[in-house]
Amino acid sequence: MSSTPRWDVHRLPSQTGKTFLVTGAGSGIGYFIAEQLAASGAHVVLAARTPEKLDLAAQAIRARVPGARLRSLPMDLADSASIHTAVRALGETVLDGAVFNAGVLQQEQRRETKGGHELVLGTNYLGHFVLGSLLFPTLAPGARLVTMSSVAARWIKELRLDDLESAAGAYQGFKVYKVSKLAQTVFALELDRRLRAAGSPIAALAAHPGGALDGLTPSRPPVHTRRAADFLKELPKAPLTQGKDAAAWPAVRALIDPAAEGGQLWGPRVARSKGRPVLERPTALMQDAATAGRLWTWAEQATGVSWPAPLDTRTQ
Ligand SMILES: NC(=O)c1ccc[n+]([C@@H]2O[C@H](COP(=O)([O-])OP(=O)(O)OC[C@H]3O[C@@H](n4cnc5c(N)ncnc54)[C@H](OP(=O)(O)O)[C@@H]3O)[C@@H](O)[C@H]2O)c1
Repeated sequence: MSSTPRWDVHRLPSQTGKTFLVTGAGSGIGYFIAEQLAASGAHVVLAARTPEKLDLAAQAIRARVPGARLRSLPMDLADSASIHTAVRALGETVLDGAVFNAGVLQQEQRRETKGGHELVLGTNYLGHFVLGSLLFPTLAPGARLVTMSSVAARWIKELRLDDLESAAGAYQGFKVYKVSKLAQTVFALELDRRLRAAGSPIAALAAHPGGALDGLTPSRPPVHTRRAADFLKELPKAPLTQGKDAAAWPAVRALIDPAAEGGQLWGPRVARSKGRPVLERPTALMQDAATAGRLWTWAEQATGVSWPAPLDTRTQ
């Protein structure tokens, strides 16, 4: 949108004194979100499912950001007990925001989380639903929760609650992925509506990275080393895709731009695929309050977790 205020992705406002948590920070876009936040002076809680990847990510960030303030938090979003353990380990930490970035991409075959839900929806949507509810009491006034959407969330025109997880016999991996990203986006906008209705000083936003490829992503040893062959292979796609460094920009802007507001969706400027981060208009379905209410209740029932009052459906 042309009304988007200016923002320099290479000169972020200082975040010294702020603490942010990033899921999926051990690799991919999440690594770059964490790196950019650390470079802006923030204390970054790196959340990822394997301690080894956390160590490598911290090593890579420190190589580029001397003195980076980092903390590693093992957390498997496909395992509710692991999420509870991780949030307990945060102790008295007060967060100024979190980016719900981790995501399972489409699967060939149906797999399940420890709680028995389809893996992609169970991790991307339900895992972050549980994490958000547990983190909520740790948030500082003015904190932001940013959920990672996808342009693929635009391609779903109807959300059927009786087919969210794609049944075993007729599993459609890409459809579940698209549904999971739509569910996450609907959740982010619904969360912000509930926060506004409650007069809360917390905000929820959504962001999406456009199209991002490892082959176009600069090396960050020991997390990621770009091979020339991969770069050359992906180069023809460069007009409408980008590296994961640039793909991190919309989420970072949604999290820290003073001009960003709750309920917004941020994405790349060029064909929603690449480039500097700008405001985007969510689809009608993303903003549909009735769908959002049903989806929220479904997540509560699926996880057995309710957000603290006044955000849970029992108080609506
Ligand atoms: N790349 C794109 O073009 C694109 C487009 C639209 C949206 N997105 C979204 O952007 C986000 C990041 O994508 P990406 O390209 O960086 O993908 P990626 O390279 O595959 O990274 C996904 C991240 O999610 C983490 N993850 C997966 N399952 C997890 C679990 N159970 N618990 C904790 N973490 C888990 C992965 O951890 P491990 O390293 O341990 O596997 C990894 O850090 C995702 O939400 C994705 O849906 C990406």
